[in-house]
Amino acid sequence: MTVPSAFTDRKICIIGLGYVGLTLAVIMAEVGFDVTGIEVRGDVVDLLRRGKAQFFETGIDERLQRLVTAGRLRIEQKLPTDSAGSVYIITVGTPLGADGRARLDMIENATREVSASLRDDDLVILRSTVKLGSTRKVAKRILDESGKSYDLAFCPERTMEGRALEELRSLPQIVGGVTISANIRASQLFQFLTPTVVRVDTVETAEMIKLVDNSQRDVAFAFANEIARACEPLGISAMEVISAGKLGYPRTNLPIPGPVGGPCLSKDPYILAESLEAYGLKPEITLAARMINERQPIEAASRLKAYADEKGFPKSPVVALMGLAFKGRPETSDLRGTTARPILDALRDTFPTAHYRGFDAMVARDEIEGFGLESCADIKTALTGANVAVIANNHACFASMPLPELAAAMAKPAVIYDFWNTFDVGSLALPDGVDYMPLGGVVSQSSGKLNVA
Ligand SMILES: NC(=O)c1ccc[n+]([C@@H]2O[C@H](COP(=O)([O-])OP(=O)(O)OC[C@H]3O[C@@H](n4cnc5c(N)ncnc54)[C@H](O)[C@@H]3O)[C@@H](O)[C@H]2O)c1
Repeated sequence: MTVPSAFTDRKICIIGLGYVGLTLAVIMAEVGFDVTGIEVRGDVVDLLRRGKAQFFETGIDERLQRLVTAGRLRIEQKLPTDSAGSVYIITVGTPLGADGRARLDMIENATREVSASLRDDDLVILRSTVKLGSTRKVAKRILDESGKSYDLAFCPERTMEGRALEELRSLPQIVGGVTISANIRASQLFQFLTPTVVRVDTVETAEMIKLVDNSQRDVAFAFANEIARACEPLGISAMEVISAGKLGYPRTNLPIPGPVGGPCLSKDPYILAESLEAYGLKPEITLAARMINERQPIEAASRLKAYADEKGFPKSPVVALMGLAFKGRPETSDLRGTTARPILDALRDTFPTAHYRGFDAMVARDEIEGFGLESCADIKTALTGANVAVIANNHACFASMPLPELAAAMAKPAVIYDFWNTFDVGSLALPDGVDYMPLGGVVSQSSGKLNVA
């Protein structure tokens, strides 16, 4: 469905052109909205005007370039006070501050800027993930100071990085309005994007849905990680327990174990917990899940240490950390909230005199060096001469690498620690002196025998 030229809310301003704002701006412009994107960072504005996104998302550059060239998407550094738009969508960041609490300063600033341009009957949509109550207590409070009449809604972004452009056209859009008219108006807008709009009773319901979505994912991953933790001393494979257990059995739907990071899952459960403080509530399962997921790098490093001591590894081993982006599938170069950092910290505490290298198929060399790692151009270089190799994300390049061949060039003794169970222990034939240690599973020994870790 294309937006008719007479549609009242056709002119849109999107404030904050990060992952969320830019992908939304592209999709809205493509369906026929007249979009102005506002991004405070001058370097990003320059890039975007040249049709180049500041992050990796498959296909975005071509689409952005087409829209910018055609004048269907304009990029500005400042919201014009005489903006002709009638709709403002706020998509600025809400990271945790140094005190571990949700930062709302960027929401406040963006809302003040909107407030300065607001005209009677405009619609404001908050789309960033926020602490419960922020739409009403932060955004509405600031907008009310303008003295204008306006509609206000909260419509959370629920897409996944790497699939945002397709998911914006398919995922149900949750809409909560401060008033019924705001709810209906925001719903009409999103109906041009996606076939399903879910209108909920209050803005707080919509805010809560977003926090619950991400917290439940964190909890599910934590439970899988708890099973992995239990299976290691038992000498059984958590991967087999999980995959065999859910085969044809719809009442179990556990994900596979692995590191849990990224810009959303590492913070949204804490935002949920902070939101509930005011009601004297503590989300115990949610916080326990975070603890389990955050403890995993330390547990992996101590398993490696016990193994290295038993095998007589050199005092200063060569350690290769592979897969630094917060996830490998869909592939991304995003390092925000990546578990590669705590994994590296735990390895450094465990092997303080080791020599460290890094490899990532998506992350730029200078960013790899920013971790204090020697950057390797490919997997072969990372593995050659290494005593310890750690596969930290699930990028497809790891599943397709010829591990036995590459492992032959590792120092001996050596071990490959795999957080993602990429290889089947039963069929992996590694050279003598190189072992494979999967998270939640038994160590395959080069002799072919299995060893309970
Ligand atoms: N990244 C995701 O996949 C994802 C998914 C769902 C929800 N979210 C949530 O959406 C929000 C945005 O996430 P993101 O990943 O796009 O963040 P981001 O930090 O990548 O992007 C925010 C952008 O806003 C800009 N900005 C800040 N203040 C501004 C202002 N006053 N005017 C103009 N620009 C301004 C920043 O420079 C930045 O480029 C967060 O609340 C996040 O939790 C993110």
